[in-house]
Amino acid sequence: MPEHQSIPGLPESGQRKVAIVTGAATGIGRAASELFAKRGYHVVAVDLSADALVWTSENDAIRPLVGDVSDDELGRRMVATALDEFGGLDTVVLNAGIARRTDWESDEAMETFDRIMAVNVRGVVSGIRHAAPAMAARGGGAIVAVASTSGVGGDPERWAYNASKAAVINLVKAAALDFGAQGVRVNAAAPGPTLTSILQGGSASQEHLEALRRPIPLQRMARPDEQAEVIWFLGTPASSFVTGATVMCDGGITANAGIFLPQSVPLSDVHH
Ligand SMILES: NC(=O)c1ccc[n+]([C@@H]2O[C@H](COP(=O)([O-])OP(=O)(O)OC[C@H]3O[C@@H](n4cnc5c(N)ncnc54)[C@H](O)[C@@H]3O)[C@@H](O)[C@H]2O)c1
Repeated sequence: MPEHQSIPGLPESGQRKVAIVTGAATGIGRAASELFAKRGYHVVAVDLSADALVWTSENDAIRPLVGDVSDDELGRRMVATALDEFGGLDTVVLNAGIARRTDWESDEAMETFDRIMAVNVRGVVSGIRHAAPAMAARGGGAIVAVASTSGVGGDPERWAYNASKAAVINLVKAAALDFGAQGVRVNAAAPGPTLTSILQGGSASQEHLEALRRPIPLQRMARPDEQAEVIWFLGTPASSFVTGATVMCDGGITANAGIFLPQSVPLSDVHH
C-alpha cells in the first residue's frame, strides 16, 4: 500500500480541505502548516509579521495572513480568509503562544501576566468563537489548541505561563460541550520540551538544554514535526470520536510523580 493511503485523516483524493494555523511562522506552527499542506490541505498561516511568513511563498497551498491573535478582529479575518480564498474550513490550529519568566515581585509582573494571557488564552478564545460557528454551519470540523505540560503542573518562575496553559486545557473541555452537537470537536495538544525558538530563545546554554532533557523519560527533546503529528491526529477525522481531550506529547514527563528522576543516558546514546 502506498504510504499516503496508510495515514489516517487524509482527505479523499482530489479534495483539498482547509486549515488555519496560528503562530505559523516558526517552530510547531510551521511544522503543522507544512504537514497539513503536504497531506492535502489548504492552509491559512497566521503570524505577527509578513517577514516571518516569507517561507510560505514557496508553497502554493499555504496563504500567509498577518495579525496578532490577541486582537479579536483577527479571529474574524482568518475565518473569512479561509472561506473566501479556499471555500471552506475544516481544521483550526490555535498554536500561537508566548512564554516569559515572571517574577512575582517585579514591577512588570502584571503587564507580563496580561500579555501572556492575551496571547495564550484570549487568542484561543477568539479563534474558537469565530471558527466554531463557521465550521458548525458547514457540518462540523476540528479545533486544536496548543497547550503545554506547563498547563498540568507548575514551573519555577513561570506562573503566568502555567496559568495560561491550564486555562487552555479547561477551555477546550467547555468548548467541546458547547459545540459537540454541531459536529465541532475541540481538543488540546500538550507538548513537552520541543526544539523551537520558544525554548532555545537564542540564549539558552548547553547546560540549560541538558537540564531540560534530564527529567524526560525518553531522554531527548521533541522535534516540531513530532508535535505536528499529534496536531494532525486531533485536527483530522483520524480522531473522529475525541473531543474535550488533552493529548500529551512530552516524552513521558507528566508520567513521573515527581519524586525520582528517570534513568539517564548521555544524549550521544539516544537513538530514537
Ligand atoms: N517549544 C516548546 O518546548 C513548547 C512546549 C510546550 C508548549 N509549547 C507551545 O507550542 C506553541 C508553539 O510554540 P513554539 O515552540 O513553536 O514557539 P515559537 O516561538 O517557535 O513559535 C510561536 C509562534 O507564535 C507567534 N506568535 C507569538 N505571539 C503571537 C501573536 N500575538 N499573534 C500571532 N502569532 C504570534 C510567534 O511569532 C511565533 O512564530 C506555543 O503555544 C507554546 O506555548 C511549546
